Amino acid sequence: MWMVHYNYLNNLHVLFMRNVLIAVCHEDCHPSKGYCDWPGECRCRLGWTGDLCKECQPLPGCMHGTCSKPLECKCEKGWQGILCQIPVCSEGCHRDRGYCRKPNECRCKVGWWGKNCTQCFAYPGCVHGTCNRPWECNCKPGWGGMLCDQELKYCETNNVTCQNGATCVSLPEEDGNYRCLCADGYIGRNCEVDKKKVEIVGLVPPKPSLMLLKSTTTTPSTVSEDVLLEGDDEYEEETTKPNSSIVSLVNENESLNETI
Ligand SMILES: *[C@@H]1O[C@H](CO)[C@@H](O)[C@H](O)[C@H]1NC(C)=O
Ligand SMILES: *[C@@H]1O[C@H](CO)[C@@H](O)[C@H](O)[C@H]1NC(C)=O
Ligand SMILES: *[C@@H]1O[C@H](CO)[C@@H](O)[C@H](O)[C@H]1NC(C)=O
Ligand SMILES: *[C@@H]1O[C@H](CO)[C@@H](O)[C@H](O)[C@H]1NC(C)=O
Repeated sequence: MWMVHYNYLNNLHVLFMRNVLIAVCHEDCHPSKGYCDWPGECRCRLGWTGDLCKECQPLPGCMHGTCSKPLECKCEKGWQGILCQIPVCSEGCHRDRGYCRKPNECRCKVGWWGKNCTQCFAYPGCVHGTCNRPWECNCKPGWGGMLCDQELKYCETNNVTCQNGATCVSLPEEDGNYRCLCADGYIGRNCEVDKKKVEIVGLVPPKPSLMLLKSTTTTPSTVSEDVLLEGDDEYEEETTKPNSSIVSLVNENESLNETI
C-alpha cells in the first residue's frame, strides 16, 4: 500500500521527496544493514541476514562454520578449510596413509592399518617376514623364500666346508644354499684361497672375459700393471657373491697355468 501523508511522518510508509517515492522499511529493520524496495520490507545488504538484518551472514558455502562479522567462516571444532569442509582427523593419524570423513577418526588407506595407520600389511601369506611398505615380505633372520616360510638351516644340516675360520650363513636354495663369510685374507666360495699366496706367486686369476680378450689381442707377458690391478679389484668383488664362477677357476690348474 502506498500512501502519502505530509503531516504524520512517523507513521508514513512512503516518503515523498524530490518527486521520488521512497518506501519506508519495517520499523525495526537495521538502518544500514537493511533496506527496502517496498514499504514495510526489510531486505538485507550483502553480508547480513535475519528478519531485521542484524545478524552476520557466513561466507556462502561455509559448511561447518559460523561468523562474527559479514562473510566470515569460522570453523567449529573438528573442521578446517576455507569453507570448514575438511574434518580434522584424530591426533596422530598419518598425514598420507590415513584420512577421515568426520572429525576425530582415522581411516587407513589400502595397505596400512593401526590406530594411526602407521603399520603396513605384509604380503598375504608372508609367514616369518615384516614390511616397511605395503605388501613386502622381508624375512626375519633364519628364514627365506618368497613368503619367508623356508627355514634356513643348510649350514647346520649339511657338511659345508667354510674354511680358514669362515662363518657359514644359510641361504635359500635359489641363492646357492649357503655362503661363507671369509676371515680377512681369504677368498673363494669356501674361503679356501689364501690371498697372500696368490699374490706372492704373482697369480691374479683374471675374469674369463678378460682372459679371452688377452689371448686374442696381446700376449700374457705384456699385460700391464693396471690391468692386473683392475683384475684384482674385480676378483675381490666377485668373491663377495655366493656363487662366483671366478672362484671355481682358481681350483683348476689349467686356467692358472695358462696365465703364468
Ligand atoms: C597414535 O598417535 C598418538 C598421538 O601422536 C599417540 O599418542 C599414539 O601412541 C599413537 N598410537 C599408535 C598405535 O601409534
Ligand atoms: C665333511 O667333509 C670333510 C671333507 O669333505 C670330511 O673330511 C668329513 O669327514 C665330513 N664330515 C662329515 C660329518 O660328513
Ligand atoms: C653356480 O654357477 C654355475 C655356473 O654359472 C651354475 O651351473 C650352478 O648351477 C650355480 N650353482 C648354484 C648353487 O647356483
Ligand atoms: C693341481 O693338480 C694336481 C693334479 O693334477 C693336484 O695334485 C694339485 O693339488 C692341484 N692343485 C691345485 C691348486 O688345485
